[in-house]
Amino acid sequence: MTSITGKTKLFATLGYPVGHVLTPQKMNALFAERHYDGVMVAVAATPGQDLARVVAAFRAMRNFGGAVVTVPHKTGIVTLCDHLSPRAANAGAVNVIRREADGSITGDLLDGVGFVTGLQNAGETLKDRRVLLAGAGGAALAIAFALAEAGVAHITVTNRSQDRLDALISRLKNSFPRLSVSANDLSEGHDIAINATSLGLRENDPLPIAPEHLRPPMLVAEVVMMPEQTGLLKAAGWAGCRTHSGRHMLTGQLSAIFDFLTAA
Ligand SMILES: NC(=O)c1ccc[n+]([C@@H]2O[C@H](COP(=O)([O-])OP(=O)(O)OC[C@H]3O[C@@H](n4cnc5c(N)ncnc54)[C@H](OP(=O)(O)O)[C@@H]3O)[C@@H](O)[C@H]2O)c1
Repeated sequence: MTSITGKTKLFATLGYPVGHVLTPQKMNALFAERHYDGVMVAVAATPGQDLARVVAAFRAMRNFGGAVVTVPHKTGIVTLCDHLSPRAANAGAVNVIRREADGSITGDLLDGVGFVTGLQNAGETLKDRRVLLAGAGGAALAIAFALAEAGVAHITVTNRSQDRLDALISRLKNSFPRLSVSANDLSEGHDIAINATSLGLRENDPLPIAPEHLRPPMLVAEVVMMPEQTGLLKAAGWAGCRTHSGRHMLTGQLSAIFDFLTAA
């Protein structure tokens, strides 16, 4: 994009808060690289009524293309969509929405696809691996589904709140009845440990996985992108584990996001 004109299509990164998001910078660079006349800005909206008002405004904006949806809206926005992809419907979460020509809103879930692509681009194999996944929010759900699709042998899930943990495990078992899944059993041998909670964004956050569970040759992977070296990745490095930062998840899914947002 060389300049914003009346023909420029509008896109948003929708979350709360939004000061730390990197998606607008990355997507605007991709728009420029692909000579696409679009611009993305961050939109801050609190959950509940304000989120519903913002989505209603998106429907009414004829030059609005769509949005990347981030914390804390990935599950709250599901009921505000008119159409959902099968994976978004199965996971009960959405991380991209597109305004169709008739003003309706379509939601899809590309976080998990991005995470798995990021691991594969870094040369990691997922088939038959045993995975420890911390978190049961939108990102964790998407990653769990994509890991299952990629053929992992087992997923152990941990989470602070029991109800979200139970909900994730039940959705996973419904969609992948033959996958081995357990809750909170950190003693099992894991090849890959993944932080899919929001812990790590702030300097004083506790670690999402206790250091005694980080053992080489385990690969320890993050979803948190800022800071790039989270407390978990530092602890993993000190323990002698290999590490994989959260930025790979975003680069892994940028191209998929572009294709989705510009498909209307
Ligand atoms: N790299 C990327 O491309 C990318 C893409 C998507 C998301 N992300 C990152 O992924 C993270 C999670 O996003 P999300 O959409 O899944 O958010 P979410 O749906 O709000 O879920 C947040 C998760 O973090 C847990 N959590 C939050 N605060 C906690 C605390 N103080 N102690 C223990 N657990 C805590 C929650 O546990 P409870 O269930 O107990 O609340 C839940 O499991 C965010 O940092 C986001 O920026 C990165």
